[in-house]
Amino acid sequence: MPEGFPIIIVNLKTYSQGYGYEGFKLCKIMEELSKEFNVNLAAAVSTVDIQDYSDNLKIPVFAQHVDGVSFGSNTGSILPEAVKQAGAFGTLINHAECQLSPEEIQASLQRCRDVGLSTVLCTADVEATKRGAALDPDMLAVEPPELIGGEISVSTAKPEVIRDSVLAVNQINPGIPVLCGAGVKDQADVSKALSLGSQGILLASGVVKSSEPRKVLIDLIQGL
Ligand code: G3P
Repeated sequence: MPEGFPIIIVNLKTYSQGYGYEGFKLCKIMEELSKEFNVNLAAAVSTVDIQDYSDNLKIPVFAQHVDGVSFGSNTGSILPEAVKQAGAFGTLINHAECQLSPEEIQASLQRCRDVGLSTVLCTADVEATKRGAALDPDMLAVEPPELIGGEISVSTAKPEVIRDSVLAVNQINPGIPVLCGAGVKDQADVSKALSLGSQGILLASGVVKSSEPRKVLIDLIQGL
């Protein structure tokens, strides 16, 4: 894992429950459930936690962002080599909350290839997904920004975005799995997303902000 699909990637963002000890406890639950149900679960975590979580968890750890920089004078940047060395399996690129210019996206993808980080390129709509597919990331994750963090899932509000993104990617670069996310909360959202052709889910608030994350995760897993 997580070379297989479908996959659920939980993005811990900067939620109070999503870093340090609390974030680790959540990832530990994910590790247990991944084993128990034999499913692919992964976590996108704070840069600060990558080393600790990677050292102590058996699920793949993703960075939430890296910069497309190399060694040198780039104060404050997140160096792909450092993320790789800390044990990350991959990274999100261009999340809706951390958007990059087209040049920055290309640079990040290239640097991740250089160092062997798996890439999840995030896109906002079908057109952006098409452009993204041409860049050959390892995965695409389409998330309508207006639905992120909300109560209504992409599967319910905009199923056509999932379906059309998958169709478009299959024409451009069929080897790229398309994930989707935004507002995903339960197994019905997950199974609908998969039935529309996606190969996984990128989600956050439904799990991270829940008072019963284990229960929510088990429900989500039933939708795989
Ligand atoms: O990265 C996942 C994300 O942006 C979706 O967030 O809270 O709608 O599941 P959420």
